[in-house]
Amino acid sequence: QILPVILSGGSGTRLWPLSREAYPKQFLQLASEHSMLQSTWLRVADVATQAPIVVANETHRFVAAEQLQQVGTTPSAILLEPVGRNTAPAIAAAALEACRDGADPLLLVLPSDHLIRDVGHFHSAIMDAADIAEQGKLVTFGIQPTAPETGYGYIKAVPGDGARAIERFVEKPDLATAQAYVASGEYYWNSGMFLFRASRYLQELERLQPQILAACRASWEKARRESDFIRLDAEAFKASPSDSIDYAVMEKTADAAVVPLDAGWSDVGSWTALRDVSEQDANGNAHRGDVIAIDCHDTFAYGERLIAMVGLDDVIVVETDDAVLVGKSDRMQEVKDVVARLKADG
Ligand code: GDD
Ligand code: MG
Repeated sequence: QILPVILSGGSGTRLWPLSREAYPKQFLQLASEHSMLQSTWLRVADVATQAPIVVANETHRFVAAEQLQQVGTTPSAILLEPVGRNTAPAIAAAALEACRDGADPLLLVLPSDHLIRDVGHFHSAIMDAADIAEQGKLVTFGIQPTAPETGYGYIKAVPGDGARAIERFVEKPDLATAQAYVASGEYYWNSGMFLFRASRYLQELERLQPQILAACRASWEKARRESDFIRLDAEAFKASPSDSIDYAVMEKTADAAVVPLDAGWSDVGSWTALRDVSEQDANGNAHRGDVIAIDCHDTFAYGERLIAMVGLDDVIVVETDDAVLVGKSDRMQEVKDVVARLKADG
């Protein structure tokens, strides 16, 4: 039994000005004619035995429900968070809901903002992971790293092939550490997707993060059940510590395992990442919409109107109705600082 849990609570600030608070990146059609949320469901629909549980902020309830409806699925549940408390509580609420009526499925936890090119390989990795998740392991999917990214978790597996135990899980190391890990050749990136039995996750939370579990249980028990949505109780949910599953559980558990995933995975975390997964011309330029690029290299342009670029290298241009972003491709992580500035200025 595989029940997908789709986490749809992020705000995707590094993809401003396209990604906005009211309409963050998981709802955008960045890489195909489907939104990232829709693609997340479609790529697991064949291996799932039930419609997904979606966990989202309550402000996004209609867009989430409608987008899934458009691709032919009515979620098993849409759990609404009054505020974001990061992924450990979001997954806890989903696990509690999954265990209702005495069930205990395998939860396939999926961020709603990734791309995976090779779905066949992804499915076989899920099947390998299911075998060990059945035995009580908390399974991650490991990606061969290509750069010392500090925004990822790093996984050191015990030597061997295929699915194996994790020796060490380090979430978001500093740059020097990440460089050493990548150079050692012994580490995977954590893809941010997980597979485990619902009850097993709850057990580990109880042991490692009893406050998170208690707050989530209280808010789930007092949740308001409407026809399309389950609203977690605000007061109880707000009382939960805010933490990610990576720090709260995966770094600490003794029962983690990793299945290598070589399926063209990408977390489309920035405009540069989107350029890198887009189709490029002979000079490395990629674009969406109407673009003329003369003597340009490794640029990316995205816009509604015609964009013309002359003599630019490694530049990103994104134009929308009310804002234009222009910047160097190796500085696109700093777009989140633009958003912070906008917020501060009101
Ligand atoms: N429902 C809900 N509520 N979803 C959330 C919340 C929340 O409070 N916070 C984050 N999410 C969703 C995001 O929308 C995203 O789909 C997913 O959970 C992961 O959150 P991120 O904030 O994007 O995490 P990250 O990118 O910093 O790190 C995670 O992913 C990396 C790979 O992309 C970690 O798992 C890293 O270890 C991993 O390498
Ligand atoms: Mg992410």
